[in-house]
Amino acid sequence: MSANTERTFIMLKPDAVQRGIVGEIIRRFEAKGFKLVAMKFMMASEDLLKKHYADLAARPFFPGLIKYMQMGPVVPMVWEGLNAVKTGRVMLGETNPAESKPGTIRGDLCIQTGRNIIHGSDSVETAKREIDLWFRPEELVDYKPSQYEWVYEN
Ligand code: RTP
Ligand code: MG
Repeated sequence: MSANTERTFIMLKPDAVQRGIVGEIIRRFEAKGFKLVAMKFMMASEDLLKKHYADLAARPFFPGLIKYMQMGPVVPMVWEGLNAVKTGRVMLGETNPAESKPGTIRGDLCIQTGRNIIHGSDSVETAKREIDLWFRPEELVDYKPSQYEWVYEN
């Protein structure tokens, strides 16, 4: 598999939907040159969210996090491209928006950790697990973007 086909799981949280900034956030991934492979608009179940954030189950903020993520619809997505996981995290900024640089999604568009508008996979392994959790294989769409040769030299 080409390095250009690395995939990351990105999810817009309920505050991004309610604040009407879904388009603004998706625009940044499109403008970067990443390829949209899958997207949903849905209410996430408690069971799914507990699996998604299983690593954080023992943390004091876990119950609040699960509640926050069920306050409204979310937008789970898969984006593909060279270093999509690492670059995606750089585009997001830090977990705490106050520590996120201007130009990052959290640095520009939100204020508090508990309302930090977006999730991004933190490693290639995590991305695989999260993509499998949120999408069936047939929901990942196979196509060649017309701009490919203008984004990558090889
Ligand atoms: P995410 O998984 O959502 O992309 O966020 P992250 O990697 O930057 O941070 P992580 O440690 O995985 O935490 C997941 C989400 O839990 C909430 N959180 N609240 N109150 C707190 O101290 C606290 N810490 C984390 C945030 O919504 C964070 O994005
Ligand atoms: Mg995380």
